[in-house]
Amino acid sequence: MKTLLFIFISLSLHATEALFDTYCSSCHFKQHITFEQMKAQKQHIQAPPISVVMERIKKFIEVKIDDEDVQKAVVTAYMKDYVLAPSIDKGICHVNCYVQFGTMPSQKGKVPPEALEEIVSWLYDNY
Ligand code: HEC
Repeated sequence: MKTLLFIFISLSLHATEALFDTYCSSCHFKQHITFEQMKAQKQHIQAPPISVVMERIKKFIEVKIDDEDVQKAVVTAYMKDYVLAPSIDKGICHVNCYVQFGTMPSQKGKVPPEALEEIVSWLYDNY
């Protein structure tokens, strides 16, 4: 039973990663890299790697309530909103990031809501 559960969990984790691959990785690559490493190769990429995005988002979205579930809910709500309606006004990326890459194009109508829900949860847990 334990083995079965483990297989199920790893399959479902893998499935969510595949959703990220389908809807996000054409622009954001998913290797964990640092900001300095990104700067070194910024000519060759079209968006900040997701590890850099997540580090910045988690640092700048400040949630005063000391509860991991609340923090995850606030951060993932921000991400869902941004993916569907990106704008420099609400963006957390560094201004140089907007100069280099431009504002993210809206993914509304491209990523199904259920897939987005899973992707942001997976990103929060894995980065
Ligand atoms: C066509 C390219 C493209 C695709 C596809 C794309 N992004 Fe982005 N994304 C960008 C660029 C460029 C930026 C940096 C500028 C900005 O923040 O708008 C960005 C920034 C972000 C940010 C940071 C927002 C902030 O506060 O500035 C998040 C979060 C994000 N993307 C999540 C996603 C997710 C999740 C997906 C898949 C559902 C996705 N992106 C698909 C290009 C893309």
